[in-house]
Amino acid sequence: MKKLLFLIIVIFTISYLSMGQPLIGQSQATQTQDVFIAVGTLNTDLVYKVSGKDGRLYQVYIGTKLGSIDDLKNVRDAGHPAYATFGTDNLFEPAIRMTHNDGNPSLELKYISHNIEKTDANITITNIILKDPEYPVEVTLHIKSYSAEDVIEQWVEIIQKEAKPLTIFNYASSMLHFDANKYWLTQFHGDWAEEMKIQENELTSGIKVLDSKLGTRAHKYQAPIFFLSLNDKSDENNGELIAGTLGWSGNFQFLFEVDEKGSLRVISGINPFASEYTIQPGKPFKTPSFIFTYSNHGKGLASRNLHHWATNYGIMDGNKPRLTLLNNWETTFFNFNEPKLVGLLDDTKKMGLDLFLLDDGWFANKYPRNDDRAGLGDWQENKVKLPDGLGYLVKEADSKGVKFGIWIEPEMVNPKSELYENHPDWILKLPNRPENYDRNQLVLDLTNPKVQEFVYNVVDGMLTKYPGIAFIKWDCNRMMTSSYSVYLKDKQSHLYIDYVNNLYNILDRLRQKYPHFPIMLCSGGGGRVDYGALRYFTEFWASDDTDPLERVYIQWGYSYFFPSFAVCNHITSWGKQSLKFKTDVAMMGKMGYDIPVNEFTEKELKFSQDAIADYKRLSDIIWHGDLYRLVSPYEENRAVLMYINSAKNKAVLFAYTLNSRYNETFNRVRLQGLDPAKTYKLQEINVSSEGRRSGTSESGKSYTGDYLMKVGLNVGSGAALSSAVFEITE
Ligand code: GLA
Repeated sequence: MKKLLFLIIVIFTISYLSMGQPLIGQSQATQTQDVFIAVGTLNTDLVYKVSGKDGRLYQVYIGTKLGSIDDLKNVRDAGHPAYATFGTDNLFEPAIRMTHNDGNPSLELKYISHNIEKTDANITITNIILKDPEYPVEVTLHIKSYSAEDVIEQWVEIIQKEAKPLTIFNYASSMLHFDANKYWLTQFHGDWAEEMKIQENELTSGIKVLDSKLGTRAHKYQAPIFFLSLNDKSDENNGELIAGTLGWSGNFQFLFEVDEKGSLRVISGINPFASEYTIQPGKPFKTPSFIFTYSNHGKGLASRNLHHWATNYGIMDGNKPRLTLLNNWETTFFNFNEPKLVGLLDDTKKMGLDLFLLDDGWFANKYPRNDDRAGLGDWQENKVKLPDGLGYLVKEADSKGVKFGIWIEPEMVNPKSELYENHPDWILKLPNRPENYDRNQLVLDLTNPKVQEFVYNVVDGMLTKYPGIAFIKWDCNRMMTSSYSVYLKDKQSHLYIDYVNNLYNILDRLRQKYPHFPIMLCSGGGGRVDYGALRYFTEFWASDDTDPLERVYIQWGYSYFFPSFAVCNHITSWGKQSLKFKTDVAMMGKMGYDIPVNEFTEKELKFSQDAIADYKRLSDIIWHGDLYRLVSPYEENRAVLMYINSAKNKAVLFAYTLNSRYNETFNRVRLQGLDPAKTYKLQEINVSSEGRRSGTSESGKSYTGDYLMKVGLNVGSGAALSSAVFEITE
C-alpha cells in the first residue's frame, strides 16, 4: 500500500516522432538537433547526448553536479559512445557484441526513446531504448540514481525478435568514459585467509582487466570492487574518483582501456570469458547491476556514500539490528557432541550474547561429517553427535534465553555422501575426465530445476521442521573447475550465468517465505562478498583468518565498500595478542566470539561481559554512523578510525598500534566529522583485564570538536599490538 502511495510514475517519452525524426527501423535521420539526457544525484551528473547527426547515444559528462547542462550543448566534441557496439566502426573494446541469425556479426544501436520513472523522492530510473536499424534487436540502458546517497546503478536489457535464437558474446552492464591527465586504479586482491589486499597503480595505454573465473563466487583472488582516481592519486579526503562494484556473485570483469588520445573507457559486467549466451526471440536478457559513486572529496566520502546506500538499499535489512553470537567453529571444529554444545549454549548466555551458531559437522550418517572429506549433501542430523536432533538444541537454547543458529553449505557435495551416490547427474563434473576436487568436494548443478528444489528444501525443510532456528550461516567453499552440466547439454557456455541466476532465484523464493530471517554469507572466508548476494544476506564472514593483526588489514579493506554492520569479526584463539586487542579489533564491525569461553579467567570473563554490554550500547553508532578512516595501516604502524552518528553528538574511535620501532613516536591524530562548536567528553572503554590500559591520558577529558579536529588526540600507546577504544560524547 505504502509503496503504491509512493509510486508516482512520471513518464516522459521523447521519441523521434515528436522531434520530427524518422520512425524505428528507418534509415539515418536528417535531423541536426541534439537531445540531452541528464542522470543526476544530489552531487553528481552523468549526461548523455543523442546526436542529431547520427542518432547514436553518447556520454558527454560525468562528474560533479553542473549548475546547468546548457553549456554542454555548445561543446563541439561528439562525446564517447554510451554503449559501444562491435562490427561497424568501433575500434576499441565493445560493451556489446553479437552474431545475428543470418551470421552477420555487427550491431548498430540508434536512440529510439527514453523515459524517466520517479519511484519516490530519492530514486529515479532512466530507461534509454536503443535499437539496431537493420535488425529487430533492442537494447535498453537502465540507470537508477539514488539522489541522497550519490549512488548510481546501471544495468542493461537486451531483447531480440529475430526468427531464431541469437548469440551474444559481450553484454556489459555499464560503459563509462573519463578524460583526465592520469588514471589511478586501486584494486583489492588476495586469497583464502588473506582477503582484501590493496594495490594502486597508474593505468597506461592499452587494456587492464580485473576479473574472476571462479563460477560460484566473485571473489577469492580478485574482489569485484575498484577505485578509479582521476588526474592525481586520491586519499581519504582529497581527490576525484569513482568507486565501482558489480552486484554479481560469479565471474565478473572490469576492463579499463586507455586509448591513443588518453581517454579511458571502463566496461563493467559479467565476465564474457567462456560465456557466450544464446538469447531466444522475445525473451529479455538482463545483466546484473554495476553500482558506483562519484566523489570529489576522496575515498572517505566514496565509502560513506556506499555505506549509506548499502544500509538503505544494498544489504538485506540494513537498518535493522544484528545479533551478537558465539560460534563453535574454531573452538571445536568437527569434534563436538550434545553435552559440549549445551555447555556452549550456557557460555552464550553467560557472556550476554544473543545467539549460538552451530558450525559445520552436525550432519550425515552413512558417511558422518567428522572432517571435510565426507557427508556434505546429507543434511540429516548425525545420530552419534546429536542423538536428540536439532530440536533438542533449539529447545535447550530457548530455555536458556538465547537463540540458535546453524551452518549449511547447500550448493556442494562430497563424493563420499549419499547425495553423490543417489544423484550423480546433479553434480558439475566432466563426463570423460577425472573429478577435480577442492576441499574434497564438488559443486551441485544449480541449472537443474531438481537441484534448485533440493537446495531450497535444505533451508525450507529445516526451518519448517525447526521453526525455532533463528539464524543461518550459508557457506560456499569452492569454485568451479572441470565443470560440465548434464542438464545444460549443448549450452555449456551458459553455466557461469545460469548458476548465479538460479542461486538468486532460490534466494528470492526463500526471501518471499522468510523475508527478515538473518543469514550470514560465507564462502571459505570472504569469497563471495558482493552486492548481488548481499541483497539476500544480512552480513558476511570476512575471512577465515581471525588473527587480529591480519584482521585490521582485512577489515580495513572491506571498509572501503561495505558497511561495518555487515562485516562479521570474531574473537578467537588465533593470534597471540591480548584479549583486549582481539576484542577492540572485532568491535569495529559486527562483533562475535569463537573462543573457549570456559577457559576464560574470571577477569577475562568480566572484561568480555563488559565489552559486550558496551558494544550493544554503542553498536548503532558503529553500524550506522559515518566512518572516517584517520590513519591507514598501509601508511603507518598503526590504524585509527572512527564512526560518528548523524546528530554528531556521539562517536566511537578505534586505535590500534600494530608495530613499534625503537624510539618510534606516533603523532596526534586529528579527528574528523565532529561539530566544531560542540564539546565532547572522551571515555576509554574496554579497559584491559590485565590492567594494561592503552597508555593514553586522554580518557575523562573534554575538548571542543574544533580542537579535536585541528589539534587532535594522542590515541594510543606506542607498544606494539596495543589498542584503545574511546567513546566520544557531546
Ligand atoms: C569455511 C568457513 C568457516 C567454517 C568452515 C566449516 O571455511 O569460512 O568459517 O564455517 O567452512 O567447514
